[in-house]
Amino acid sequence: MTQDPTTVAEDLSDLIGFVDASPTPYHAVATAAALLDHAGFTALDPIEDWGPEAAGPAYVVRGGALVAWCPGRRSDPAAPLRMIGAHTDSPGLRVRPRPDRSTAGWRQLGVELYGGALRNSWLDRDLGLAGRLAVRSDDAVELRRFRTDGAVMRVPQLAIHLDRDVSTTGLVLNAQQHLTPVWGLGDASDGDFRAWLAALVGVEPSAVVAWEALAYDVQPSAVIGAERDMLAAPRLDDLAGCWAALTAVRHAASVMDPPELPTVVVLNDHEEVGSQTATGADGAWVEQVLERRVAALGGTRTDLLRSLTGSLLVSVDMAHATHPNYPERHEPGHWIRPGGGPVIKHNVNARYATESTGAAAFRAACDRAGVPVQEYSHRGDLPCGSTIGPITASRLAVDTVDVGAPMLSMHSARELMAVADITSLPTALQAI
Ligand code: CO
Repeated sequence: MTQDPTTVAEDLSDLIGFVDASPTPYHAVATAAALLDHAGFTALDPIEDWGPEAAGPAYVVRGGALVAWCPGRRSDPAAPLRMIGAHTDSPGLRVRPRPDRSTAGWRQLGVELYGGALRNSWLDRDLGLAGRLAVRSDDAVELRRFRTDGAVMRVPQLAIHLDRDVSTTGLVLNAQQHLTPVWGLGDASDGDFRAWLAALVGVEPSAVVAWEALAYDVQPSAVIGAERDMLAAPRLDDLAGCWAALTAVRHAASVMDPPELPTVVVLNDHEEVGSQTATGADGAWVEQVLERRVAALGGTRTDLLRSLTGSLLVSVDMAHATHPNYPERHEPGHWIRPGGGPVIKHNVNARYATESTGAAAFRAACDRAGVPVQEYSHRGDLPCGSTIGPITASRLAVDTVDVGAPMLSMHSARELMAVADITSLPTALQAI
């Protein structure tokens, strides 16, 4: 397929803007909400009763998760859905509740490892902090997002002179001992971090009652390569999937001739830690939102169940491109090329939810869109990763296909993909 250079350039800068504005799931959801507001979607209050505006285009936010939808030509409450799922979280370092410590003249912040991060990728990077905090005022508690402008800390690697075997036996990083960032000099006292956070958002330290504080690499995303055909960026897994889903639903809401079926986008948090949370794919929230949407359309729970039984979920999470330095780690019949288009992920043990029904539907969409498609299957002698697809499929009993764009360095603090694969993904999703 030949891609329109203007669309490719616009999508590239759109994705970079989304990623760089979204260092945490809370920021990703806020960035998504701003895009949806701009596209004319109504923000629904998660607690209030929903009126006719719940027919959509509309969206609702909870923590680091978001569900958005727009109507199709079929408006009955039992109409099947074109569902697209992705996740807002990425592996990394998160600050503990009592983080203040110091050793040998360095002030440090105690952190906990979130998800299956490539630990080495967090070394010797200039790290900022972002997240949300709970601020108490009178009797109420208010949640506020925060983000440092620049870097405030770093996880320093041990010098090679003190680790002579590192190049031959490999780098072993203990999650308790070796990943603690330095964020200043001198001696720490209990409450330093709380006071710093309070000053950052302009409140008294005693008002700061809790936080989710995430390290992020302050280096912006960059287009690289001799032909500038690669994107190096943090959190592509799975902000690239979130961006593609949002692009598809905004497209469905804007075209004169909308798709027959309503489009629903689900962006879950906590995929990297197993999804069993209030805002994760293994929670009840998505089903609750869908049931409330059907009720607002005048439908019943039976209408919801009929709708889900006929629906297709395209679960978008990133896929492994074949690594040029480690081709032997890949199943030889299923090499994945950068720039080769979206990947359908297969696993007979249901680490991916794809069955022939969903694979056929996604392949047909790619054909209609003129987008090439690839098929991934994991080596038989390596444990396969998983994603929100199987979890959502089992929670909602909905036909699901797991897809994604090819990338290298999955779960690194900085990942890599082909620019050509950025536009292919929403183009394919728009055709489902
Ligand atoms: Co992922």
